[in-house]
Amino acid sequence: MDLNKRPESMERITTAALAEKFIDEQVAAVRAQVGDKKVLLALSGGVDSSVVAALLIKAIGKQLVCVHVNHGLMRKGESEQVIEVFGAQMDANLIYVDATDRFLDKLAGVADPETKRKIIGAEFIEVFNEEARKQEGISFLAQGTIYPDILESDGVKAHHNVGGLPEDMKFELVEPVKLLYKDEVRVVGAALGLPDSMVNRQPFPGPGLGVRCTGAITRDRLHSLREADAILREEFDKAGLTKQVWQFFTVVPDFRSTGVRDGKRAWDWPVIIRAVNTVDAMTATVPELDWALLKKITDRILAEVPGVCRVLYDLSPKGPATIEWE
Ligand code: XMP
Repeated sequence: MDLNKRPESMERITTAALAEKFIDEQVAAVRAQVGDKKVLLALSGGVDSSVVAALLIKAIGKQLVCVHVNHGLMRKGESEQVIEVFGAQMDANLIYVDATDRFLDKLAGVADPETKRKIIGAEFIEVFNEEARKQEGISFLAQGTIYPDILESDGVKAHHNVGGLPEDMKFELVEPVKLLYKDEVRVVGAALGLPDSMVNRQPFPGPGLGVRCTGAITRDRLHSLREADAILREEFDKAGLTKQVWQFFTVVPDFRSTGVRDGKRAWDWPVIIRAVNTVDAMTATVPELDWALLKKITDRILAEVPGVCRVLYDLSPKGPATIEWE
């Protein structure tokens, strides 16, 4: 039997009752696989790794060691939520690594998008490996691989795979949600008691805000981007759009334009609002947002975010535009 193939008889998990059944089965399976050994998990706070963490905490408690690496490119409040939910509420064995300075120092002056992605990916592996080495007696590595990852990439999880573990740290994998589709992972997450904002999180790229602070990242522009993004999310939430729009975020590009503030000339950044609907991210359309909502978001960003004098709404579909700006 191919363990990476979803059996045709497997029922789609659409209800809390089916999720409970799945959770019970997986708890038993994980306990049988792991015994009294320790398991390491890179916990980003995204849906997949969060659901795996909650499931493993239920199955093996403190035998799970979660490592949350804050690369300094998280959205506002995200690392805090990981610490609150897994550290405080679930009392997990959680190691929090604030690697902000390491990442931002390595990225300083780097403008090429692919080079930025490579630096972020490589640094992540390095920080995670350093933490892994500090742990004694780890035998397993848990991963939030889901079924589309297996279908798309021949079993290699492109985005979540921490990969690149040195030879002496090769662990056996624990992948409890690898046969589930994303909607099923969300149903399981809700049944495990994870907060709605975690379970229904929109997709967020691994390099995080790094690809939305275009060109060479600076700390001041990154700060403005994070604040603008938080305002957009808050207002979309209040308007009931969070579950209706597939992905939405802000971009702060590395160019300025003239503005006027307090009677004086300013030379500030624009904030670009990006919102898209799509089925598979291969093509995407732009929703017709309510004018009053756009105006409210604009007013708030201009009043609350430093260094910004314009707000733009990107009307470009994919293609020819991509969803992200770089
Ligand atoms: P594009 O910009 O290619 O984005 O239209 C399609 C989807 O992929 C996400 N994306 C990424 N996700 N690492 C990721 O994990 C990346 O480097 C990356 N680049 C784009 C993007 O957010 C969108 O959902």
